[in-house]
Amino acid sequence: MSVVAIDQVHKRYGALEVLKGVSLTVEAGQVVAIIGRSGSGKSTMLRCINGLEQFQSGAITVAGHRVEQNPAKLQELRKDVGIVFQSYNLFPHLNVGQNIMLSPRITQGVSHAEAEALARRVLAQVGLAEKFDAFPDMLSGGQQQRVAIARSLAMRPKVMLFDEVTSALDPELTGEVLLVMEQLAREGMTMLLVTHEMSFARSVANVTVFMHHGKIWEMGPSKELFENPQTAELQAFLSNGVK
Ligand SMILES: Nc1ncnc2c1ncn2[C@@H]1O[C@H](COP(=O)(O)OP(=O)(O)OP(=O)(O)O)[C@@H](O)[C@H]1O
Ligand SMILES: [Mg+2]
Repeated sequence: MSVVAIDQVHKRYGALEVLKGVSLTVEAGQVVAIIGRSGSGKSTMLRCINGLEQFQSGAITVAGHRVEQNPAKLQELRKDVGIVFQSYNLFPHLNVGQNIMLSPRITQGVSHAEAEALARRVLAQVGLAEKFDAFPDMLSGGQQQRVAIARSLAMRPKVMLFDEVTSALDPELTGEVLLVMEQLAREGMTMLLVTHEMSFARSVANVTVFMHHGKIWEMGPSKELFENPQTAELQAFLSNGVK
C-alpha cells in the first residue's frame, strides 16, 4: 500500500519553476533517499508533502490525506507526517521530556501520565533514556537532533521526512544520528530523507531519487543507482562527491 503518492506536482516561486512535474510513490516501510545538487528542489518536494509549501498543480496523497491548503485538513495530515530539519528547534526553557510531551498533550489531548510514558519510550528508541530531565543546552548537537527525532516519533507518524538532519553536525556526531535513522528503518518506518550522506543512502535506502533542475532525473533501487548511474548528470554528481 502506498503511503505517499506524488502525482505530477508543479511548484513555482513567482516565475521560477522549482518542481517541474514530480511523481513519486512510496510504499509502506520503504526508505527513499533524495539526492541532488543544491537548488534542485529536494527540500521543496519534502515540504510539499506535509503542506508546508503550496503547489500550483498536481496532487499529493499521504496516508490517505489529500494535501490541500485547508487549515483543518493540514492539521489532520500533520498528525501522520513527522518532519525533522537540519536545525532541531527544541524549546530551550523546557527539558527534554517536556519538549517531547508538548505536542501529544496539546494536539492529541493525551494525559500527562500517558505523554510521559510515551516520551520515555521514544527517548529510549533514540538511545537517550537517561536524558529525560536534561535541558537542550546540556546536550551535544547529535543528542539534540536525536531528541528532535524522538519528539517527532511521539506523534506516532505514519511517515517521517528528514531534510539533511546531519548537515549541521560534526562528523563524529553524524554517525550516532544516522544509526538512529537506520534503526527506525529496520523497525519498518516509512521514510523519505534528503541527504548528502551517499554511503548511508546506498546502504539504508531501498530507493534513491536523484533530483536535477526540479525533476526526478533518475531513480531506482539504491545499489543499482549508485553502481550504474544511467544519466551523465548523475554520473557527474556522484563522481564530484557531495553538493
Ligand atoms: N521561499 C522561496 N522563495 C523563492 N525561491 C525559493 C524559496 N525557497 C526555495 N527557493 C528556490 O527554489 C529552488 C529549490 O530550492 P530547494 O530548497 O528545494 O533546493 P534543495 O535541493 O533543497 O537545495 P539544498 O541542497 O541547497 O538544500 C532554489 O532555486 C531556491 O532558490
Ligand atoms: Mg534543501
